[in-house]
Amino acid sequence: MEDNLKIGMFDSGIGGFSIYSEIQKALPGADIFYIADQKYFPYGTKSTEEIQERAELLTTYLKNKLGVDIIVVACNTATVSALSNLRKNHPDIKFVGTVPAVKVCAAETRTGSIGVLCTPKTANSTYQKNLIKKHAGEKNVLIRACPGLVEKIEKGDVSQDTLEEHLYFFKDKNIDSLALGCSHFPLIRAEIQNYLGSGISIVDPAPAIAKQTKRIVNNLKMLSKDEGSSYFYTTGTEHQFNSMIKKHLNKAINSKHLTC
Ligand code: DGL
Repeated sequence: MEDNLKIGMFDSGIGGFSIYSEIQKALPGADIFYIADQKYFPYGTKSTEEIQERAELLTTYLKNKLGVDIIVVACNTATVSALSNLRKNHPDIKFVGTVPAVKVCAAETRTGSIGVLCTPKTANSTYQKNLIKKHAGEKNVLIRACPGLVEKIEKGDVSQDTLEEHLYFFKDKNIDSLALGCSHFPLIRAEIQNYLGSGISIVDPAPAIAKQTKRIVNNLKMLSKDEGSSYFYTTGTEHQFNSMIKKHLNKAINSKHLTC
């Protein structure tokens, strides 16, 4: 019997949940293997070399131990730091990265000013700078790096003061479209929208990532069952991760500890 379609995903923590949900909706028959690299969280303050090393180890685990066919790098910081290396080192695997939807924001803005909300590491990356140059070169692009925000989201501790600290920057700047450039941010999308007001359209790349994953599956004619299963792993503490899965995905799943 053929193996079922297997999709691997990883993030430094729970950020990839926003992408997981969209992929599960788009490909309900796939088996999904999600790794939260919580021991090394956050990635946003690590060196490029460290992130590349983590991405390489997690990819090798997903490929060799779990036998996945496709890997979704469900983290902007890992994508801008490690995706090109991963593609070079693993030509046998199809990768899907996570980048902010600046192209969509640039196409839909009427004021000509758009915002990008991301980690400091992503803000400073050549990858994101090139992406902005390519898709929004003629727009006024305001980039807000948010040191410390992912930590608060991971802990479930985002107060009004936190929103004020990180989002005040966009107030009265005439932006009408905001690209979420960190996979943790869709988890507080409602709070961001509430703070910035309904005049700003917030663009989460997760649906486009799921669409791209589905396109690859269709092109490769991969098989899948009617209903796939999901498996969750953490390099951190299982019981803490289990409660995050319950809170954000409403699933009572026991995660496994991963040492790598
Ligand atoms: N979800 C990660 C991202 O998309 C968070 C980065 C971090 O761990 O700092 O960038």
